[in-house]
Amino acid sequence: MRQAGRVLPEYRQVRQKAKDFKVMVKTPELATEVTIQPVDILGVDAAIIFSDILVIPEAMGLNYEMEESKGPVFPRRVTSVADLKMLHVAESEELRYVHDAIAMTKRELNGRVPLIGFAGAPWTIFSYMIEGRGSKTFSQAKKVLYSQPAFAHQLLEMITDSTINYLKGQIKAGADIIQLFDSWAGVLSPAQYSEFSLKYIDKICNAITEVPKTVFAKGAFFAREAMNELSCDVIGLDWNMEIEESRRMIPGKVLQGNLDPCALYGSLADVKRETKQMLDRFGPTRHIVNLGHGLYPDIEVGNVKCFIDTAKEYSAKMHGARQVI
Ligand code: CP3
Repeated sequence: MRQAGRVLPEYRQVRQKAKDFKVMVKTPELATEVTIQPVDILGVDAAIIFSDILVIPEAMGLNYEMEESKGPVFPRRVTSVADLKMLHVAESEELRYVHDAIAMTKRELNGRVPLIGFAGAPWTIFSYMIEGRGSKTFSQAKKVLYSQPAFAHQLLEMITDSTINYLKGQIKAGADIIQLFDSWAGVLSPAQYSEFSLKYIDKICNAITEVPKTVFAKGAFFAREAMNELSCDVIGLDWNMEIEESRRMIPGKVLQGNLDPCALYGSLADVKRETKQMLDRFGPTRHIVNLGHGLYPDIEVGNVKCFIDTAKEYSAKMHGARQVI
């Protein structure tokens, strides 16, 4: 799951040496090193390329900074149609450093585990471009949907086209599967979600036919039936989504998820119990073990390892192989 590496002292060491998050993202050797760390140290069954969803706005012309302990910040924001002049649809070539990191990671992995490529879903990227930083409510981004819907669609189209170019480049470089993160899906109403988010996710899913696709929309419990209709293969669930109910609503997809990352703050016995319970509820097939969202930096590495080991051992014992990523 996202930001998995940062619980590892080995990640923090590389991060400290590089000084800046973006230096790591833009240096294929460093990105490769920290991408492979969780595979070697934690034993996960897949690697996810070290990058960030915000490389897309940057390639479109809106630079971001990763501020220590604050998260991402954009010095300039987009607020109206006039601001679109400073943006362009990103070409794959403009994100070559990510593609180079993917190619290098594939070589280093040498077939040990598959490599996941990713991008932010257009609505989530739009939110950061409008707000200029993270937010609890994303009220400024939502304001634009209500007050300037035509402008919103124009920007969402540009983000969508940039994302398709970017993902095609990732696949050419060797990504075995791609995942879309719609981290701020949960702030929208069902009608707005359908108009301003799912529509663009659908366009991306239809354009990417080369590899399997996972869609993870945090908080979009209300859109599960619609997500069953997307031309993707896997739907990621967050921990608020009830497992049996999700199976009924999304019968056509493999499901991924969904342990609450905070469950990993418990004792090792708690972690084992919670993990087994989750596996029982998903059942023996069509499930990729994952958390319901990213790890927090103060979660104990030993507890993360316990989650992964329990999932692997319990699944092998109960039902044969199951992927843990
Ligand atoms: O686990 C990995 O390293 C995979 C690569 C990855 C990162 N970010 C690296 C990262 C992935 C898949 C992401 C996705 C991402 N980035 C999302 C979507 C997933 C989600 O979280 O909902 C979002 C919203 C972002 C934007 C972002 N990047 C935020 C909000 C933050 C700060 C978050 C926080 O809790 O501190 C980041 C920073 C970031 N991206 C880190 C990493 C390893 C932490 C940087 C560090 O402290 O070294």
